[in-house]
Amino acid sequence: MLAFKEEIGYLLSSLTGMHPGEVASSLEIPPEPGLGEYAFPCYGLARSQKKPPQVIAAELAAKIKPAEYLEKVQSAGPYLNFYVHRPYLFSRLLPEITRLGPEYGRNGEGQGHTVVIDYSAPNIAKPFGIGHLRSTVIGNALYRIYNIMGYRVVGVNHLGDWGTQFGKLIVAYRHWGDNSRLEEDPVHYLYNLYVLFHKEAEKNPELEEEARLWFRNLEMNDKEAVQLWERFRALSLEEFKRLYSFLGIQFDSYQGESFYNRLLEKTITLAVEKGLAKESQGALIADLEPYGLPPCLLRKKDGATLYITRDLAAAIYRYEQYRFHKLLYVVGAEQTLHFKQLFKILELMGYSWARDCVHISFGLIYFKEGRMSTREGRVIFLEDVLNRALDLAYNIIKEKNPDLLHKEKAARMVGLGAVIFGDLINDRIKDIEFDWDKVLDFSGETAPYVQYAHARICSIFRKAAREGEDVSLPVDNFPDLLEAGFLSSPEEEQLVITLARFVEQVRRAAQEYRPSYLARYLVDLARDFNKFYHNCPVLTAEKSLRRARLLLIKGVRIVLHNGLALLGIEAPEEM
Ligand code: ARG
Repeated sequence: MLAFKEEIGYLLSSLTGMHPGEVASSLEIPPEPGLGEYAFPCYGLARSQKKPPQVIAAELAAKIKPAEYLEKVQSAGPYLNFYVHRPYLFSRLLPEITRLGPEYGRNGEGQGHTVVIDYSAPNIAKPFGIGHLRSTVIGNALYRIYNIMGYRVVGVNHLGDWGTQFGKLIVAYRHWGDNSRLEEDPVHYLYNLYVLFHKEAEKNPELEEEARLWFRNLEMNDKEAVQLWERFRALSLEEFKRLYSFLGIQFDSYQGESFYNRLLEKTITLAVEKGLAKESQGALIADLEPYGLPPCLLRKKDGATLYITRDLAAAIYRYEQYRFHKLLYVVGAEQTLHFKQLFKILELMGYSWARDCVHISFGLIYFKEGRMSTREGRVIFLEDVLNRALDLAYNIIKEKNPDLLHKEKAARMVGLGAVIFGDLINDRIKDIEFDWDKVLDFSGETAPYVQYAHARICSIFRKAAREGEDVSLPVDNFPDLLEAGFLSSPEEEQLVITLARFVEQVRRAAQEYRPSYLARYLVDLARDFNKFYHNCPVLTAEKSLRRARLLLIKGVRIVLHNGLALLGIEAPEEM
C-alpha cells in the first residue's frame, strides 16, 4: 500500500534495531476490519528480548507517535496494529492510480533478474487437453505478474515433440494413415491414430516392437522417419499456435524436447564424468538411492534417450543462455518425482543454481466424465471446452442484456475469462471439479462477477459523460475534498483500503507462485465495490461528492482491469 510497509519498517527499525526490510516482510494483514491496516507480530522480539510479546507490543505502542501517514498505533495482545491515515492514503493513492492508468502496478522490484517459465508444453500427437490448459493459464499469469514487477521473463514452450510416441505414430501412419485427413484436422487425426495404435497393439503386440524400431530410426536420422516427424510437428504446432492466439498468449521460445537432441551426448558424458551416471546392463542409470529417490534411467540399452535426459540438457542450456534467477516448471503434480530427480541430479552435478529451479505443481481437473486419459480416448479437447464456454456465455449475455450491440465480443471475453478464472481462483495444488454453472455464475467468485463490476463502472462513466461531467476528472482540488470529510463512509474507506492492497497482492502472488491470491483479491475488490455502490450513490450525489466518488471508482476500474489482465483475462466495457 504505497510505501507504508517501508515506512513502518524504518519506524520499527529505529525502535528495535531490526532490519527495516525484515520488519516490512513480517507485517501481516489483520484478520478483520477495525484492527488497522497492518499488524506487526511481536513473537520474534519476545524471543530475543525474553519478554512476553504482549509486553513488547504495549511498550512499542506507547513509544510511537502519529505521523503524516499514520493515524495511530495500538497494541492488541501480541500484535502491534497500525492504522493508516485515511485522507493521506486517499490523496496519494487515487491520483496515482488514475495518472498511471494501464501502467498502474508496474514496478522495478525484479530489475536485473531473469525468470524463465516453462509452461503449456503440449505433446505433439496427443491432444492439447485440459491439463495443459492449467499449465498454460497458470504459467501465463505468472509470466505477466513477474513482468509487471520488472523481471525479464522468458516464456518457454517445452513442446513434447520427441519420444517413443513418435515411433507409434509413424507405425500407425504407415499402416493406416490418410494424408488428406491428416491435413484437414491434424491434431484430432494424429490423436485418433495414437488411440488406434494402442487398440491394435493389444491384439497384435508385435506393433510395439515395430514402434520401438521406428523411434530408433528416428533417433538415427532415418529419412522417412524424420520427414514424417517433421510434418506431424509442423501441422500440430500450427494448430497449437492458433489456440494460443485465441487465448491471447505468446511464447518467447518454442524450443521443445527435440531441440535438445544435439546436446544429449555432451550432457550424458558430463553426468558420467561427474560420477553420477553408471552403466548397468548396457543402460545408463543415475543412482539416487542415497537421497531417498528411485534410480533414474538416462539412456536405455538400445541407446534411446528419455524425457528426463532431455530435461537435464534443457536446464543446463537455459542456465547458460539466460543466467536465470529462477527457472519455473509449471507442470502437473503427477510429475513431482520427475522433477525431484531432475533437480537432485543437477545438484549432484555441481550446479549451484539447481536450488533456483522450482516445480510449480498443480492438481487435476475433473469433469463429470472422470479423469481424462489420452490413451483410451476418453479425453476432453481444449477447443471443445472453449467453444462451450463461448456458447454458454453468449446465451447468458443475450438473456441479461438483449440490447447489447457486440454480444459476441463480450461473450468471448466472459467465456474465456470464466474458464481461466475458474482455474486460477483455486489453490493450484488442489484438484478442481469443473462445473460450468459455477464458473459462469455472475454472482459467484468468478470472472463474470469481477468483469461485471468493471463494466458497471464503465457504464456509470458513460452516463456521467452524457450528463456533461468532465470525466477526465482533474484532481487538483482532491485533497481539499478529503479534508472536508469526503469518502469517509465505512464502504468508501473499505474500498480504498482494498484498492491500496493491489500491489502487495501481486507481490505475494509472485513470491508464492500463486495467482490465486490475485484472483481472490479481485473478487474482494469487486465485492467491496458492490457494497459501496449499493450504499453510496454516485451520479445523484452533490457535485463535489460526486466527483470524489467518480475518482474513487475510476481507480477501482483501473485496478480491476489491470488485475484481470495479469491473469490473462480481458475486461469488457459492456456485457
Ligand atoms: N510435455 C510434457 C507433458 O505433457 C510436459 C513438459 C513440461 N516441461 C518440462 N520441461 N518437462 O507431460
